[in-house]
Amino acid sequence: MNILILGSGGREHSLAWAVLQNPKCDRLIVAPGNAGIAQIADCATLDVNNPAAVCEFCSEESIDFIIVGPEAPLAAGVVDRLTDAGFLTFGPTKAAAELEASKTFTKQICDAAGAPTAAWARFTQADPAKAYIRRQGAPIVVKADGLAAGKGVVVAMDEATALSAIDDMFGGQFGAAGAEVVIEDFMDGEEASFFLLSDGTDVLSIGTAQDHKRAYDGDEGPNTGGMGAYSPAPVLTEVLQDKALREIIRPTITEMARRGTPYKGVLYAGLMIKDGQPRLVEYNVRFGDPECQVLMMRLGGQALDLMLACAEGRLAKAQVNWAEDHAMTVVMAAKGYPGTYEKGSRIKGLETCSETSSEMVFHAGTTAKDGAITATGGRVLNVTARGETLQQARDRAYAMVDRIDWPAGFCRRDIGWRAL
Ligand code: GLY
Repeated sequence: MNILILGSGGREHSLAWAVLQNPKCDRLIVAPGNAGIAQIADCATLDVNNPAAVCEFCSEESIDFIIVGPEAPLAAGVVDRLTDAGFLTFGPTKAAAELEASKTFTKQICDAAGAPTAAWARFTQADPAKAYIRRQGAPIVVKADGLAAGKGVVVAMDEATALSAIDDMFGGQFGAAGAEVVIEDFMDGEEASFFLLSDGTDVLSIGTAQDHKRAYDGDEGPNTGGMGAYSPAPVLTEVLQDKALREIIRPTITEMARRGTPYKGVLYAGLMIKDGQPRLVEYNVRFGDPECQVLMMRLGGQALDLMLACAEGRLAKAQVNWAEDHAMTVVMAAKGYPGTYEKGSRIKGLETCSETSSEMVFHAGTTAKDGAITATGGRVLNVTARGETLQQARDRAYAMVDRIDWPAGFCRRDIGWRAL
């Protein structure tokens, strides 16, 4: 088959790497891709948020299957357009993608489905939102309703921080995404991610992971898109996964179908676990980044079969063949990230890292220039390894990190500390 993956990050590099291991893939194009992806697949220039342009490209290139990586094309209705045109596509429709695109929508679905989550209130004006915060007190969580590139959530440990988040959001910091604000009770516990495929009716678990959101060791420093991840997440035991499926995931899928907007694609549930009870923090309608990198490292070529089964409505009969393995990815970022950072620094030593089914450096923000690889993003490389134990995966990943010669970059040295 001819397969198109939309996106340009480490997530899409790992998806491409896994898809290419499956003999069903004859030709792979990634749009727009990056320098690492270009080493294994064709990259194409394409406005991935323009449904008509994506559809035309798929016709021209005789694409048989499209995998949508990031949330923006989903929220723009790319899947709707492709599906209407008869293309087999992996990802939810625009209406179903509201599970990530609107915090209010997700809360309403949870209420209708009886799914455990934090108590919440929605505001369209600053004064009543501030009055609510003063009544509730801190800690408290303030969320911009819409998509804000992962930056629209403030976990405020004191009232002043929460009030200033209200000013920022209604002051336009996140544009239209902050025109509505959801305020939630603070949830205590350990956070973990649960990844599932849904074909609209049936649901299949494809793994658990935990990431590290803070920039520096010891969970210090500013929030980032994620500085590393590992899978499986020990806190999400089989018992807790069953509970989350029964109380949160299946009721959500049933409610989405009841509303006439069935959810099809990967569902990434952020869960807070406390006293044996999982509660929903948020849904994402795509693979996590960098969580996808550890999931793909563990799933390998079967990832394509699972995504096809999902898109074709065959999940009832699908199953994952798990190995007793663990995977870890360490994010190497440009110094200064998540604030301002320089672009264009040269990365050396990548050729010393092997590319095997257990070790892979996925590129997240790189460009090839005059035969060299340069850093052009904030999060730049995802150094990923698999092992029989998490310790082995960790040792392999950091051995690769130590061979990469990139003085303008940094990484955390304690990825996986909670599980190790
Ligand atoms: N790593 C967090 C996310 O992908 O949203």
